[in-house]
Amino acid sequence: MRQPEKPSLALGFLLFTIGFPMQQAPIKHFLNTQDWTRPELDALLMQAAAFKRSKAGDQLKGRAIALVFFNPSLRTRTSFEIGAFQLGGHAVVLQPGKDAWPIEFELDTVMDGEAEEHIAEVARVLSRYVDLIAVRAFPKFVDWSVDRQDKVLRSFAKYSTVPVINLETITHPCQELAHVMALQEHFGSAVLRDKKFVLTWTYHPKALNTAVANSALTIATRMGMDVTLLCPTPDYLLDQRYMGWAAQNVAENGGSFKISHDIESAYAGADVVYAKSWGALPYFGRWEHEKPIREQYKHFIVDEAKMALTNHGVFSHCLPLRRNIKATDAVMDSPACIAIAEAENRLHVQKAIMAALVAQS
Ligand code: CP
Repeated sequence: MRQPEKPSLALGFLLFTIGFPMQQAPIKHFLNTQDWTRPELDALLMQAAAFKRSKAGDQLKGRAIALVFFNPSLRTRTSFEIGAFQLGGHAVVLQPGKDAWPIEFELDTVMDGEAEEHIAEVARVLSRYVDLIAVRAFPKFVDWSVDRQDKVLRSFAKYSTVPVINLETITHPCQELAHVMALQEHFGSAVLRDKKFVLTWTYHPKALNTAVANSALTIATRMGMDVTLLCPTPDYLLDQRYMGWAAQNVAENGGSFKISHDIESAYAGADVVYAKSWGALPYFGRWEHEKPIREQYKHFIVDEAKMALTNHGVFSHCLPLRRNIKATDAVMDSPACIAIAEAENRLHVQKAIMAALVAQS
């Protein structure tokens, strides 16, 4: 459990005698990469590379992390559990509504529904047991104006007295760092700037979360790349918050950001093709109206012909991926595909994140 920040004895006595309340330093969470400075992100990536070279450490010795999953996972759960173990710590997995009590997140509410306890108690109690809380909570897919508030994650951060990590809500910042690490391994860490990065929408039979797309846009622009968001129609543009972050990142870091609905010109000369499917925000919650639109764009699949237009570009995806729906077998099995390296890097970057966050206390 994180102890309150202690000023030095002499400073504490001075503040006490002159009547200043002793302030506790704000907790640094890992909710979005945009909250972290570029040098801080670079330091996490360097630490991750060190963990990749030498996996064992004692940064979490005697520490524990609660992994709170409201949704399924293969990579995130495995890599966090193993990562905590490799650093000498312990992970507890909780699935509210399955093996833990359902949680209420509304304020000032009469809890006469399914929830058995309130986030105000859940986060405070977990904070007495563990040193980190990590949360996966996908949107409800009914009302984007509600989902975009990221209420579950924000509520954990509000009531927790230990650092909180985003395991994918409406962004996926751990995936961002794993992707950048894979790109740095391929291109060299100094040369991502000005690489042509294409974030392409792909077809999927279901309307999926925009989290990974929001994150890919955020981190690619943060790294100073020339970023193209390729999607079938303006309906598939991302939320203004993330489009705004992309514009801000270009202004601060160089590179560029443009939108395209033309497959050939978007792929032409690309160094990186990153694929993801997501539901169109204007149809959020009215998915039966979105489906006939989405069905028209199955040809956005990443295939060899499209990859041949690139500058010997690499392909990646966060996984899980439906083969021959989002990308063909030939692309997935080609040397250009770095999705497995990216998935491995989840382990290394998350160890760096956990180590950095517990080092605060
Ligand atoms: N990419 C990713 O987060 O994978 P899981 O959903 O399997 O955790």
